[in-house]
Amino acid sequence: MDKDGSFVIMDYKQLVADALAPTMADTLSADDIYKKIERPKDSSMGDYAFPTFTLAKTFRKAPQQIATDLVEQLDQSKFEKVQVAGPYINFFLDKAAFSADILAQVSAQGADFGQNENGKGGNVPIDMSSPNIAKPISMGHLRSTVIGNSIAEILKKNGYNPIKDNHLGDWGTQFGKLIVAYLKWGNEDDVKKDPITNLVKYYVKFHQEDKEHPELDDEAREWFKKLEDGDAEAHRLWSWFRDESLKAFNQIYDKLGVTFDTYNGEAFYNDKMQAVIDELKEKGLLKESQGAQVVDLSKYDLNPALILKSDGASLYITRDIATAVYRDKTYHPAMNLYVVGSEQMYYFQQLKAVLTEMGLASAKDLHHIPFGLITVDGKKLSTRSGRIILLDEVLDDSIAMAKKQIAEKNPDLPNKDEVAKQVGVGAIIFGDLKNERMNSIDFNLADQLKFEGETGPYVQYARARAESILRKAADVTPAGENATINDPEAWETVKTLADFPAIVEEALADFEPSDIAKYSIRLAKAFNKYYAHSKILADDAEKPARLALVKSVSTILKESLRLLGVQAPDEM
Ligand code: ARG
Repeated sequence: MDKDGSFVIMDYKQLVADALAPTMADTLSADDIYKKIERPKDSSMGDYAFPTFTLAKTFRKAPQQIATDLVEQLDQSKFEKVQVAGPYINFFLDKAAFSADILAQVSAQGADFGQNENGKGGNVPIDMSSPNIAKPISMGHLRSTVIGNSIAEILKKNGYNPIKDNHLGDWGTQFGKLIVAYLKWGNEDDVKKDPITNLVKYYVKFHQEDKEHPELDDEAREWFKKLEDGDAEAHRLWSWFRDESLKAFNQIYDKLGVTFDTYNGEAFYNDKMQAVIDELKEKGLLKESQGAQVVDLSKYDLNPALILKSDGASLYITRDIATAVYRDKTYHPAMNLYVVGSEQMYYFQQLKAVLTEMGLASAKDLHHIPFGLITVDGKKLSTRSGRIILLDEVLDDSIAMAKKQIAEKNPDLPNKDEVAKQVGVGAIIFGDLKNERMNSIDFNLADQLKFEGETGPYVQYARARAESILRKAADVTPAGENATINDPEAWETVKTLADFPAIVEEALADFEPSDIAKYSIRLAKAFNKYYAHSKILADDAEKPARLALVKSVSTILKESLRLLGVQAPDEM
């Protein structure tokens, strides 16, 4: 039974622990027993195993003898079989009872299976994607988008309320330079046509020219000052650059199917900065260092955090402090998540330390969720003359390749274009998320689109196959309650289904969408094997139960993909 009893999920490991506990009442606590229980890789060694070799000292007996003695004493009635195998006791679950239990639950709960309320509705702001205005979106921003989006879904599944915030880099002295460059060399139509490419071009030109014409820097400083002071023209240009850039970013977000709850970029915190600086001062945390204001972090073994430059200008971290304070006040967060590349690891240690010094309530639950680099066919994604188009191209290529495959495999499929999109985009998202996030990956599009192997399309295809069986069996009502399956070929699939709720919790504990992706591959594999070995549609007594199993697999595969931000076509 679940801790708070809200979901009736049998904990089978607990069943094993309960059987063992009375036999060792004087030596091991129920908790210790529970922790020692293992899941053998191979089902022939049982569904659960209890190792006895660590108990030799306590019992002053050989492990094998301990195992033999314990088995003699324990109540075996709830299991199909309990066996001694060397220094292990192997427990075989009652397949009929277990399958009936799991299938009844998944049938009744549908996609809610695995939902828990651990988060008690707590707010969790997720800082994710967060590209910089007038600059190309980098691969890091994209990974952040995809990983953050999945973590948001996993949070919901664990009973939290995620708030996806795109912390746009939309403030800083570079906007003074950009305004000067635009006014001198820019052109409205060009910006509208291809905002990022052209804005980058102006910015680059500024840096070429200001070597010979240092007065440009003074102009840029003036424009940024105007912007800060709310000058109408400066604000109009800035806000236009921001809109045009966002339009370009949104094309990619749309294709990926990712949305945000807020777009509170750095500029949003301008009017919230002074209060934070005052607070730092009041708390005696600001120290002068060579004219600048810093927070000393030596007790954290970190370099001091530079909060205000000698000219009084704020920095990236100043805005991040204001952001954290704002989120703290607005959301009273249960956790504060930042999905940002691993190159900012040190920076987030500093940020957390400053917030801790300030006594911010949510500082202790601030988690930087870093990730490694990704390249596509050995190429970095963002390098091509500053264009963000490359990712767009990769997505389009992927969709086109998926379309070709579908045309070959299933030429009569009605909604080919829609499915090609789901498969092409899904392949990319899945190809990213199946890797532990800290790993650096090189991404080969053709590999990720294969219908075999550990790919998104493989999982999508397994699910479409399940749907196709259900369509063929449309005349049968799948059994819900009391659906028992004794077929040993089905056992791995049944057990894998039962693992889902634990995986949902694990994925959140590690902030690892890859836990879900790997699980979905495992379930798809088990199901494909079952499908190859069993006549699911044969007319016999177990048919309704088999159909309940197929339906459950389809539901959980779709739900796993949904948690990753990948769609599941019914046919492909
Ligand atoms: N705009 C930043 C960059 O591109 C990422 C922002 C991450 N979020 C934050 N709160 N610092 O590097």
